[in-house]
Amino acid sequence: MKGFPAAIGVLFTLVYQASANVDHISLYASGGATIVEASATLVLPSAPNPITGDVALWSAIQLERDFIQGVSENAPAGLGYCTSLGSNWCNFAYALTPNAQNGKPVIAAPGARVRTHYKLNSSTNLWDQSVYINDQVVSTVSTSQGQKGNIFYVSVECASGSCAAAPAHSWEDISVVLSTANPNFKHTGNWNFGATGGEMSTSDGGKTWAFTTLNVPATTD
Ligand SMILES: *[C@@H]1O[C@H](CO)[C@@H](O)[C@H](O)[C@H]1NC(C)=O
Repeated sequence: MKGFPAAIGVLFTLVYQASANVDHISLYASGGATIVEASATLVLPSAPNPITGDVALWSAIQLERDFIQGVSENAPAGLGYCTSLGSNWCNFAYALTPNAQNGKPVIAAPGARVRTHYKLNSSTNLWDQSVYINDQVVSTVSTSQGQKGNIFYVSVECASGSCAAAPAHSWEDISVVLSTANPNFKHTGNWNFGATGGEMSTSDGGKTWAFTTLNVPATTD
């Protein structure tokens, strides 16, 4: 939390545990195959209207204890991690560890492509999380040594305040890699809360999974 009010991290922690996030994807590892890598690219939509709450769009992995989360948020002045945000989005790598840690928050405009890549680093055994804006890495954090990856999420959250709907948006190039092949990881049928697309396929028997573009409708948490 260096350089940022500690209270915000605490608030995020409490809110995450207390609020019912709108989880369009919640995908559980099973059969002894854990998540070891994932990537997801959010195409930033327009800002919520009105801008009255902290609206957060994120992908994430629930680890054994920690929660690692590439966040894009829009919030009015005084809320959230960026100042002078206006109708833009604040993007950063975030790790909900016992002392919440985040990478640098960086502003991007609607239309920008915000990719978060999560990977269990085989030499350090840390989870390296990197957020890219239009293919340039801007925010990183490495945490959660040795923890297994249990659940992959794509979600919308009203992290604080009174939130307008998150405008419709899409997630491109979602991928998840497992520790060992598990054909049963495949989700069939619709995703949650009206999200369409996101069809999963594997070309290596169930270790590496690719998704078609996921389209998320305007969503209120
Ligand atoms: C693993 O972490 C080390 C130390 O931070 C880094 O130099 C290396 O590039 C990482 N490996 C991969 C595959 O990213």
